[in-house]
Amino acid sequence: MANMDGAEVAKHNSKESCWIVLESNVYDVTSFLSKHPGGAAMLLKQAGSDATNEFKKYHPLDYVNHLPSGSLLGPMDPNTLSKLNVQDEERSTPPGSAKEENKLPHVSLCVSCPDFEAAAKLVLPHKSYVYASGSANTALSLRGNLDDWSRITFRPRVMRNVGHVDTKRSIFGHSSQYPFYISPMGTLGAIHPGAELEMVKGAVRKGTHMVVSTASTKSSEQIMTTCLSELEKMGGRSPTQLFYQYYMPVDRKKALNLMHVVKKAGYKGLWITVDTPVLGKRTADRILQAEEALAVGLSDDDSAETTAEWETGDENTFAPSMGGRPVSGQLSPHTTWEDLLWIRKEWPGPIVLKGIQCAEDAKLAMEHGCDGILLSNHGGRQLHSAPSSLMTLLEIRTYCPEVLGKIEVFLDGGLRDGNDVLKALCLGATAVGVGRPFLYALGAYGVKGVERCVDVLLDELVTGMRLLGITSLDQCRPEMVNASRLLNDMYRPDTWAKSRL
Ligand code: HEM
Ligand code: HEM
Ligand SMILES: Cc1cc2nc3c(=O)[nH]c(=O)nc-3n(C[C@H](O)[C@H](O)[C@H](O)COP(=O)(O)O)c2cc1C
Repeated sequence: MANMDGAEVAKHNSKESCWIVLESNVYDVTSFLSKHPGGAAMLLKQAGSDATNEFKKYHPLDYVNHLPSGSLLGPMDPNTLSKLNVQDEERSTPPGSAKEENKLPHVSLCVSCPDFEAAAKLVLPHKSYVYASGSANTALSLRGNLDDWSRITFRPRVMRNVGHVDTKRSIFGHSSQYPFYISPMGTLGAIHPGAELEMVKGAVRKGTHMVVSTASTKSSEQIMTTCLSELEKMGGRSPTQLFYQYYMPVDRKKALNLMHVVKKAGYKGLWITVDTPVLGKRTADRILQAEEALAVGLSDDDSAETTAEWETGDENTFAPSMGGRPVSGQLSPHTTWEDLLWIRKEWPGPIVLKGIQCAEDAKLAMEHGCDGILLSNHGGRQLHSAPSSLMTLLEIRTYCPEVLGKIEVFLDGGLRDGNDVLKALCLGATAVGVGRPFLYALGAYGVKGVERCVDVLLDELVTGMRLLGITSLDQCRPEMVNASRLLNDMYRPDTWAKSRL
């Protein structure tokens, strides 16, 4: 193939003809525009330019193999690179540059979780911040997550000699210094160039466990390799273990293949996400996507073509600007409880259902032999008006308390203070997942931020334990919290029957 001239490539910068450069090769992606699960606008913005850096934020390099055959036009002539179009860098300044450091508060000024969000907002590209902070519909689920922690108060005991406290907790026999872990979050390449690798380094350095997302930018093997090499550097002093969050593909062969890859890589448990048979309505993502489509001229009054038509290809019914995997075949809406039978045969380790939202399903999970459940509404990103995980925990305590002694029960959503971990533990939880605070810490400060976020949560937890009058987490008891306000709002099965009288 002849070398391609940059000036020629630069001309193909429209939806009629869209060429991009990836790793020094030129591709014609015109026919792929409407099929791209990340949306056509993403690609059009890169038209006629070198898209490698943007591409790497979201995809492993072998994703180019997804392009239809014949897309590769040839190698770039390296002498003509300067003639390519140049895209505005999303970040106003590269990370670590003087200007940005002036803007970004020193990491030591982050003394509680919300500080990381404020810092990340300063430096993350707008699109990435929208992706991370976004939630479903009018944000009621997200707000409920944040608010419900405040509806439980402590009932502290005094004069208990709290000179020394022990914060150890185990997840499926894997002990660590913390009763919290890093929740799985996809597409971290949009948050930090090091993506999940940077996050996992922070986890290992501090010894926290982490659940890795199926929708990660880096491959599950790469993430595990980084984890192992970081563990080695720590000389065996870090107890960090990785678990895998599993989105079930529709195709059984693909589902099995993914499971085998993860098993071989050495992940310690499969956390199957069950609250996402389809992607929720991510409101802010949709606005952003429409704005981007309009900005690159995808809506054209003359042809009466709407952006919606462009964004709806054969392969996907709806492509958000980023986040989630609405690709047909990737996210199975067909999963049922019966699937647990074959999954159990294929996966010998612990199985956790992520996204349990009522007592009945908690009980079903136990009866189906799951080793754990994660009470979660996906950080308020899925169902509108979903219950907070604390509310679901109260339901379980009330209607099927036997679950709490039998399987491990995790919670996540809206936790922004180490003290709040104690509330969940008093009510019977094994451990709590923390999502966005770690994501923001990563986005603003990289590995240092992740470490700092662990320190902040631990400091709050230790102080909270002492002020509550306990010295180890085994001493957490339900009578140490007042959950009456939340209980008042809890679902009661008999209210409907009564109202019919
Ligand atoms: C040209 C070759 C490209 C191919 C074959 C490709 C392929 C794909 C595929 C298969 C997905 C859905 C799977 C997944 O969720 O991981 C996807 C999603 C996405 N793509 Fe691309 N892509 C390409 C270029 C790009 C470029 C240049 C950008 C950025 C400028 C980009 C940004 C995104 C985003 C943000 C998503 C949604 C996020 C996600 O779900 O991971 N893609 N792309
Ligand atoms: C619009 C076109 C396409 C889309 C949206 C698409 C989307 C995807 C997605 C989302 C994945 C999962 C990636 C992951 O697990 O991170 C995937 C995997 C894969 N795709 Fe595609 N793909 C497309 C075309 C193709 C084509 C044309 C081929 C081959 C000729 C192909 C071969 C593969 C292979 C080999 C895998 C990985 C193995 C597996 O998951 O079983 N794809 N694709
Ligand atoms: C940006 C982002 C991406 C996420 N990606 C995934 C994912 O890929 N798989 C998954 O099961 N949950 C995902 N979640 C949900 C988290 O695992 C977790 O349930 C939630 O973030 C907890 O709420 P918090 O962010 O308020 O702590 C994501 C959440 C966020 C904020």
